[in-house]
Amino acid sequence: MKKLVRPFLLFVCIIGISMLHYLTPLNMPYLHDIYQRLYYLPIILAAFWYGFRGGLACSTFVSVVYAPHILFQWGGHLTVEMEKYLEIILYNVVGCVTGILSQKERERSAELQETARGLDESFKKLQAQSERMITIEEKLRRAEKLSTLGEMAAVLAHEIRNPLGSIRGTAEILKDDYQPGDPKHEFIEIQIKETERLNRVVEDFLHMARPQPVDMLPCPIQDELDTIFFLVSNDARERQIKLVLQPPAVPVIIKADGEKLRQAFLNIAINALQATPPGGSVIISTKVYQTGLCEIRFRDTGLGIDAETLSRIFEPFYTTKPDGTGLGLAITKKIIESHNGTLLVESEPGHGTTVTVRLPMQDTANGGIS
Ligand SMILES: Nc1ncnc2c1ncn2[C@@H]1O[C@H](COP(=O)(O)OP(=O)(O)OP(=O)(O)O)[C@@H](O)[C@H]1O
Ligand SMILES: [Mg+2]
Repeated sequence: MKKLVRPFLLFVCIIGISMLHYLTPLNMPYLHDIYQRLYYLPIILAAFWYGFRGGLACSTFVSVVYAPHILFQWGGHLTVEMEKYLEIILYNVVGCVTGILSQKERERSAELQETARGLDESFKKLQAQSERMITIEEKLRRAEKLSTLGEMAAVLAHEIRNPLGSIRGTAEILKDDYQPGDPKHEFIEIQIKETERLNRVVEDFLHMARPQPVDMLPCPIQDELDTIFFLVSNDARERQIKLVLQPPAVPVIIKADGEKLRQAFLNIAINALQATPPGGSVIISTKVYQTGLCEIRFRDTGLGIDAETLSRIFEPFYTTKPDGTGLGLAITKKIIESHNGTLLVESEPGHGTTVTVRLPMQDTANGGIS
């Protein structure tokens, strides 16, 4: 409907001017002169709106409706009405030229719009890239800081280990001076135990900073998980958490350093218990895939991990616990990766977390399937 408004306007305009021509007496030539010029208005408008074709069509139409007026009302003598015939030629020239110009202008503006759109897209791409670069730079800076911190901590840990050895040695000697049952004997035992614990932390840290070759032997995964279950079941009972161990359909054997693997599983299980409120559950399950991978899942119904925390849980010293060291998962990841495995943490804040460990199998009793 909107499309027809302009042609209709032009049509009415041309017919109106023509009527004025036809109805105005010939003894008023100055009025005819004005009407003659008025025709330029629809011609230029048509050329402007519809380009070359529109301009030409409009000027032809004007010529067709104006010509009979010259011919029949003015007599149409070529020598006498020369100026009027020339005007008709001019209508067509103006219609064509204005049409061509306006068409070119329109094409140029379309081109400019296209270029502007292209530029806008490039700008957006550039902006996204620069944002990505800023994020990468931030990550790099953080990694740099962490690596310096790690080096310093490794030196510190190394320096702590030697005096720890001396403390333990002297405590062992002192222990012999007291009979079991003597309170001092117990104190020294505590001292030895705590020194051992501290030594383990330092050892763990050094292991993480400078990974040592792992002692790979065939290792039945279920035995390790049974040990973990045994180790944490008391803690789970105290926290009133249901701890479930779901064994795989077939025995799974992987080539691994059993002690290291136990340490990794223990870290994950302890995290799960610490995050789960009383009444919740922690389920440890094992699955075997035909691809030669086994999957150990630790699923808890705890607090879950928000996106910000999730992106940082593997950073050494990152912890949300008042008494946490933030080394648990960093060490676990190193251990799993040194076994050519992967560690995946998925979480739904408020609902729970699933930690999935995937390890390549050495063998299964009956070729393991899932
Ligand atoms: N199952 C889980 N549910 C909720 N949050 C978890 C879970 N596992 C890990 N986290 C989050 O990841 C953080 C890092 O865990 P990580 O084991 O590395 O250190 P930590 O448990 O805080 O200290 P620690 O060195 O004593 O283990 C935790 O502080 C906790 O916020
Ligand atoms: Mg932990």
